[in-house]
Amino acid sequence: MAAPERIASLSTAPAEWSPSSWQACPQAQQPAYADATELERALAQLSQLPPLVTSWEILSLKRLLAEAAAGERFLLQGGDCAESFDDCSSPLISNRLKVMLQMSLVLVHGLKLPVVRVGRFAGQYAKPRSADSETRDGVTLPSYRGDLVNAAAFTAEARRADPQRLIRGHARSAMTMNFVRALVDGGFADLHHPEYWDLGWVKHSPLQDEYRAMVESIGNSLRFMETLAGEPLGSFQRVDFYTSHEALVLHYEQALTRQVPRQAGWFNLSTHFPWIGMRTAAIDGAHVEYFRGIRNPIAVKIGPSVTPDQLRRLADVLDPEREPGRLTLIHRMGATRIGDALPPLLAAMKASGRTPLWVCDPMHGNTETVGNGVKTRRFENIRGELDSAFDVHAAAGTRLGGVHLELTGENVTECMGGARDLTETDLARAYKSQVDPRLNYEQSLELAMLIVRKRGALQASR
Ligand code: PEP
Ligand code: CO
Repeated sequence: MAAPERIASLSTAPAEWSPSSWQACPQAQQPAYADATELERALAQLSQLPPLVTSWEILSLKRLLAEAAAGERFLLQGGDCAESFDDCSSPLISNRLKVMLQMSLVLVHGLKLPVVRVGRFAGQYAKPRSADSETRDGVTLPSYRGDLVNAAAFTAEARRADPQRLIRGHARSAMTMNFVRALVDGGFADLHHPEYWDLGWVKHSPLQDEYRAMVESIGNSLRFMETLAGEPLGSFQRVDFYTSHEALVLHYEQALTRQVPRQAGWFNLSTHFPWIGMRTAAIDGAHVEYFRGIRNPIAVKIGPSVTPDQLRRLADVLDPEREPGRLTLIHRMGATRIGDALPPLLAAMKASGRTPLWVCDPMHGNTETVGNGVKTRRFENIRGELDSAFDVHAAAGTRLGGVHLELTGENVTECMGGARDLTETDLARAYKSQVDPRLNYEQSLELAMLIVRKRGALQASR
């Protein structure tokens, strides 16, 4: 009988999408706002405020990501686990930009590939939590969900989900974005300025000779090309930075989802490159529903519990047209699990003829808690997962096209190990993160150099 089959196929056809259609789906990790009218008022205001990015920037990033998936570029995506409203300051923003810029130059030079730079900033204000509430000394309060939702202090007032924070988050993102754009346009990334090459850190590194040689070689190449051209090369004064964040609080994302003249469809104009976190990637959930309808390039974080079948279905829903640059898959398995967990997923995508951009996040599968309940990550495990990622992709015939890191331009002591071999005792010295531990300035640059080394070794062994 044909009829039941027809009904079955009709019922699985995607329903009409709208920026608010996610509201009819199961919603994970959303704040509980006590006052619906207060929320409505904030959202009405937010939906009238100007966007943070433009559709043409979004579409040009999509083209760059397509090239990264095709092996012609490498993606460097990094920044804080969570930005905070208090950290929206000039030195923190410029130091973060500087470390990303230096890492990207190490990668460009070593990989001989252009690098796409994407910050986890200008909107990375919301966090998924493993529990909805937290109990201290017999007092239970809602969990801290990032500055977009509530505040970290352990008081009832601080932990209240406050809709006004959505407006403040938009404003802080705009300030960050404005400063980043001004720095980039004003020649902050000008390679002619040697002060951007802070060499202090290499004194502690076993990689110091390599690093110095690389800095020298970049300077020489630049001078050589300028001699050929007979003038300073303007294109070396400007680089592009794109923004990304976990699009977690869907009311916020919806209010910044807009239509623009001369383009079909809807764009999330709060960021260039939103991603779905591991805890909100359920196929029938609100986040997947929201993401399927926007035209931005999008990413999904995938952990060791994702099955090949789930991944196939996610890819079909989120990228039914198989559009180049649309879908990035960020795997975050953990150093000890990547060898088993990743190959079946690579095989599944390959078998279905898909070529997503594969990116390794070597941070989130390697978080551990040491004495006094401090959350940390070991540099060796971060490095180990990245090394394995290159090997696993090489064995599968797929390509690792980028890295996703939690880092800061400050000299914090949150991750152990690295050139200075930070120990558990060092963690107390400069641990600033409210959430996950970040690589500090030196550890970040060191990791960039190790990526280059690993890729070089792999190519030499072929
Ligand atoms: C994060 O990127 O900060 C995060 C929470 O990651 P994941 O969703 O992969 O756990
Ligand atoms: Co994190």
